[in-house]
Amino acid sequence: MNKSPIAFFDSGIGGSTILKEVTKLLPKEHYIYYADSKNNPYGNKSKEELFNIVDNIVKDLIKYNPKLIVCACNTATTMVLKDIREKYKDIIFIGTEPAVKVIYDNYQNKKSIILTTKGTGDSKRFNELIKKYKSKNSKLVEAPLLAELIEQNKDTYQYLNKLLKDEKNIELVVLGCTHFPLVKDHIKKILGNVIFIDGGKGIANRIKYILEQNEGFNNKYKLDIITDNKDKENRIINIINKKS
Ligand code: DGL
Repeated sequence: MNKSPIAFFDSGIGGSTILKEVTKLLPKEHYIYYADSKNNPYGNKSKEELFNIVDNIVKDLIKYNPKLIVCACNTATTMVLKDIREKYKDIIFIGTEPAVKVIYDNYQNKKSIILTTKGTGDSKRFNELIKKYKSKNSKLVEAPLLAELIEQNKDTYQYLNKLLKDEKNIELVVLGCTHFPLVKDHIKKILGNVIFIDGGKGIANRIKYILEQNEGFNNKYKLDIITDNKDKENRIINIINKKS
C-alpha cells in the first residue's frame, strides 16, 4: 500500500481529460491536480520560460510527497520534460506525447491529421517522433490559439472551422494537446465522423503498471485541485465526472 498522492499538472483544465481516464482505471487513489491557468497558454512560451514555470510547479508538488508526477500536457512534455527529469532524478515523471506511434502502428492507411499547439509542433522532441514514425497519409496541423480559447471558455467553432475547413476526407485526428478532447464535437461537425486518438488511456495503463511494479496502490479516492479560480475547479470536476 502506498497512500502518497499522484500529482498532475497542466496549463489549466486540459490535463483533466487525462485525469478522467486515470480515475476510471484507478478509482482508489489520491489525486492532486494543479491547474496552472495563470500561465496559459504554454504553447506560445519560449523553452526557457516554460522550463522555469514547470520547475516552480514541480517544486510546489514535491511538498505533497507524490509517488508520481504526471505532466498532463503535450507542450510541457515535448518542450521541457527531458530537462526537468534531469534536474529531479529521484522523481518518477510520466509525460504526455501526441500519439504519432499509434498511427504508425495501426492506421498508416488512414488519412490523418495531428493537431497540436505551436510549442509542441515546433519542438525538437515532436519532430524526432514524426521522423521516427513517419506515416505518409498523416500531416501536422498547429492550432496556436485553441488551448487558450478553450481555457477561457470562449467559442472555438469559428476558429476551428477556419483552420480545418479545407482538410478533406480526414478519417482520424490525433488530439495532440490535452485541452483538445474538449472540442471533439466541433471537430466532428467540421470534418465528419473521424476517429479520435489521445493519450488518456495509454497514460492510465502506464500508471497502473508502475504502481503494480514498484510504487504500490492506495485504497481510497480523494481529489485535491490547486487553482486560483472556483470556476476552473468546477469545470475540472465536471470533465472528470462526465460520462463518456
Ligand atoms: N494542455 C496543453 C497541452 O497538452 C497545453 C496547451 C497550452 O497551454 O498551450 O499541450
